[in-house]
Amino acid sequence: MSWFGRYLRSSIGAKHAMAVTGLLLLLFAIVHMLGHFQMFGGQDMYNKYAHFLQNLWEVKWPVRAGLIALTVIHIVLAIGLVAKNRAARPVSYAVYRPVMSSATGRAMAFTGLAVFAFLAFHILHFTVGMVQADYFHTLDPKGRYDAYSMFVRGFQNPAIYGVYLAGMVLLAMHLGHGASSWFQSLGWRHPKYPIDRIGTAVSVFLFVGYMIPPTAVLVGIIKLPGA
Ligand code: HEM
Repeated sequence: MSWFGRYLRSSIGAKHAMAVTGLLLLLFAIVHMLGHFQMFGGQDMYNKYAHFLQNLWEVKWPVRAGLIALTVIHIVLAIGLVAKNRAARPVSYAVYRPVMSSATGRAMAFTGLAVFAFLAFHILHFTVGMVQADYFHTLDPKGRYDAYSMFVRGFQNPAIYGVYLAGMVLLAMHLGHGASSWFQSLGWRHPKYPIDRIGTAVSVFLFVGYMIPPTAVLVGIIKLPGA
C-alpha cells in the first residue's frame, strides 16, 4: 500500500482528511447561504442569479461532483473512525465521565447523520422537485425558472419552515463543533486561542444567515410578485 493509503488508514490521517473535506463543505455552505440574500432584491434579481448558476454547466457539474465526493469521503472516514474507537474499547466504561469532549462533540455522529437526512430532503425539495411539486420549475415573466417564487411558496408553509429550522439547528451544532475539531486535528489547538469560541461563532453565523431569508418569507417581508 502507498504511504498515502497507509496515512489515510491511520486515525490521524483520517482525522486530517475529515478536517479538509469538512472545511471545503463549510466553504460551500457559506457561499450558498450568502447567495440567498439576493431574495431581498426581488424576483428578477434572484432568478437572474439562479439562472446564471443553472446555466453555468462547466461549473455546476464539477461543483455537484465535488460536493458528492467530499460528502462521501467525509462520511466513510467518519464511519471508519467510529468503528475504530468502538473496537478500541469493546466494553463500555462503567461510569462515563468525559473530561475533554463536549456534549456536541459526542453528538457529532448523530448530528452528522441528521444533517445528511436533511440534505437528502433539501435536494428532493428544491433540486428534484418531489416535495411541493406544483411550485417547481414554473417560469417567470422572462421565461426563466422561477426560483424566487419556489422559495417564497416553500417557506410560506410553516411545516416546511419547521423542517429547515430543525435542519439548520443540527447543521449549526455539527459545524460549530467541526470548526473547533479542525484546529484540534491539525494540531493547532492552544490554550491561548479561543478555539471553541470560533466554533460557536461559525455556527451562529450560519444559523442566522440561513434562517434570515426563510423567516422574512414566513413573516411576509419577502412576498410573491404582485402580492
Ligand atoms: C435554510 C437553508 C437553505 C435554503 C433556504 C436553501 C435553498 C436552496 C435553493 C432555493 C436551492 C435551489 C437553487 C436553484 O434551483 O437555483 C438549493 C439547492 C441546493 N442546496 Fe440549499 N438551501 C439551504 C441549505 C443548504 C445547506 C445547509 C446545504 C449544504 C451545505 C445546501 C446545499 C444545496 C445543494 C447541494 C443544492 C443543489 C445545487 C444544484 O442544483 O446543483 N443547502 N438550496
